[in-house]
Amino acid sequence: MTNNIYFIANWKMYGSTSLLKSLDKVINLSKSKKYKMAKIIYFPPFTLIHNFIKKFDSAKISVGGQNCHHKKDYGSYTGSISPKMLKDLGCKYVILGHSEIRTAGETDNEINKKILSALNKNLKVVFCIGETLKEKRKKNTLKVLKIQINRGLKGIKNFRNILIAYEPVWSIGTGVIPNDEELEANVDTIKKIILKKTKIKIPILYGGSVNSKNISKLKNISGISGFLVGSASQNSKNFIDIIKKTIN
Ligand code: PGA
Repeated sequence: MTNNIYFIANWKMYGSTSLLKSLDKVINLSKSKKYKMAKIIYFPPFTLIHNFIKKFDSAKISVGGQNCHHKKDYGSYTGSISPKMLKDLGCKYVILGHSEIRTAGETDNEINKKILSALNKNLKVVFCIGETLKEKRKKNTLKVLKIQINRGLKGIKNFRNILIAYEPVWSIGTGVIPNDEELEANVDTIKKIILKKTKIKIPILYGGSVNSKNISKLKNISGISGFLVGSASQNSKNFIDIIKKTIN
């Protein structure tokens, strides 16, 4: 593992103000020297972003949006949030290309437009990629990853604010994770595709059913700089366990 290990908490459409208190434990952990290499980033639903930012005021924990519109400033797009608005709230990051949004119809081209706009507003982008079960069964994983990366990152010149989250769609929320060889091979492929675009070392994270049980196995996968944790991050105790087991 590298110097900084990313621990991303994606709360999806969960959470309420009553859970804010439970973040105290994570704040304490983030202040301890032992875990200073842990880069913790929370992605609450939009409704809680402001509360989270206030809560983490004195802590080194960043906050981001789970999505944004491709228009970078303002516009007549009911129900949407722009990169400028996220930035204005105090967000440092945004997740783009998550499979739960791709499944609802988001295209690679749209993701690319969002990434360009988010970068333009100085947000760091957690760019999610991953194959579906059908694609994996047809042995199309590498092809799919290549297409998603090439289309998603089209026209990007500065890769400094990009992180990639490799999240096999069949692993998200299922409790199933890839085996070590498969995961290492896919991470290696992603690195090679990226290397053709930039010499900058882009952090590659793994996401999909990460929990406090399988983390001891996942942390040994080479080439990974951290984890994108969904449901297990919504419980602070579980999330802390994941961080502690990775760093200990
Ligand atoms: P999960 O979600 O950890 O609940 O599988 C991961 C994600 O959606 O990013």
